[in-house]
Amino acid sequence: MDKIVIEGGVPLEGEVAISGAKNAALPIMAATLLAPGVHYLHNMPRLADIRTFKRVLGLMGVQFEEGGGHGGPPHQHQELPHRPGGPPDPEEDVLVVDASRLTGWMAPYEVVKTMRAAVLVLGPLVARARQASVSLPGGCAIGARPIDQHLKGLEAMGVKITLNQGYVEAKAKRLEGAEIILDIPTVTGTENLMMAATLAEGTTVIHNAAQEPEVADLARFLVAMGARIEGIGTERLTIHGVNALTPTSYRVMSDRIEAGTYLAAAAITRGRVSITNAPVGEMSAVLEKFQEAGVRFTIENSSILVEPSGSLTGVDVKTLPYPGFPTDMQAQFMALMTLAKGASIITETIFENRFMHVPELNRMGADIAVSGNHAVVRGRRHLLGAPVMATDLRASASLVIAGLAAKNTTEIHRVYHLDRGYARLAEKLAALGARLKRMPA
Ligand code: EPZ
Repeated sequence: MDKIVIEGGVPLEGEVAISGAKNAALPIMAATLLAPGVHYLHNMPRLADIRTFKRVLGLMGVQFEEGGGHGGPPHQHQELPHRPGGPPDPEEDVLVVDASRLTGWMAPYEVVKTMRAAVLVLGPLVARARQASVSLPGGCAIGARPIDQHLKGLEAMGVKITLNQGYVEAKAKRLEGAEIILDIPTVTGTENLMMAATLAEGTTVIHNAAQEPEVADLARFLVAMGARIEGIGTERLTIHGVNALTPTSYRVMSDRIEAGTYLAAAAITRGRVSITNAPVGEMSAVLEKFQEAGVRFTIENSSILVEPSGSLTGVDVKTLPYPGFPTDMQAQFMALMTLAKGASIITETIFENRFMHVPELNRMGADIAVSGNHAVVRGRRHLLGAPVMATDLRASASLVIAGLAAKNTTEIHRVYHLDRGYARLAEKLAALGARLKRMPA
């Protein structure tokens, strides 16, 4: 296991390009199961979760080839047909996915327990293979993470679900369109049901659908494959089932959470950073809160140009489903608030246990008190470096942000959490002048 060692206090300077969005890339990879043939996915982020998901899909017979240094050997079996117009550009992050032949429909516990997003194979598998055996994800650090809404929706579409030794066993004839009202606007639940509905007989309407931009990105990919979907980006999705989908090329949207993370890092170090390829149009709630806190930045097309700010002001934040403030930015914003003037009340409404970064930030001299799903942050003049432990993906990012501003040295352990959602974070921060290095713990 590696650790990251940071000498804090250096204002970040320079330009950082945002990568493809993990939470769009994963459902889009799952959706390739719906259409036999070769898909070309562009702007894919180089992340541990992507590599994990490739293993899951590989178990089902999906084959891969990649350009752009994803790491790992190119696909070993017969040469994949290259997309029209010649081989993939070796520099671009393109993932070639051949889902022609499915030889399995199981997502085993060993994988699902490390990456719950693997449940995203459920909808596509029951639609294409009429069966699936997917391990229940089990809880994770931030919460119980049930999938009852996924299963309720699939049953409404005629899928027979049984739970057997921790696995969801799903069997179906051809799925039938259904009217589904979600109790919660679940992101992957909406994605699973939308994917399943694309090949169902008749029309499916999903009410209270998640409106996260990554759900819309998946919907656009499905439409590019020939799916018929109305209401993309709204809380009501109408999917008219078709008989078959065809493989396609698609460019994954960029990562609004990665962009927000670098914005927090630039702001807390009083740096001057240009964040390029940012999905600015999908970041309004985040940008508004940074502005309210006194962070100085301007927007130019898809770049966020951050200027050194004066002192920051504590502002209250409540995480909400999109278009509200995203829960995936809560920990990073909290790190920024530890050095803001006054108090900030941060309310987490999505997950029941997403304050694990608090004790670690307090070890660095922050003053944060948690009561239920509220955290009261009282700004301090500075933080002090300390050895701290990452517990989940976004909590790890908040410790890096705090370490960049803290006096002296911060050592962050268990940084494998970071690798799941941030492509080359240490490299990108070092390129911005941060004094940090990654080394074996
Ligand atoms: C997605 O998780 C994201 N992951 C999460 O990002 C993100 O935090 C979350 O949406 C909320 O925005 C991916 O897209 C791969 P939910 P998901 O289903 O779909 C409850 C990251 O850091 N719920 O919208 O699992 C659930 O317990 C990750 O990149 C049910 O009760 O989240 C939670 O409290 C972390 N029953 C709330 O809803 C269900 O059937 C929202 O969960 C489904 C969910």
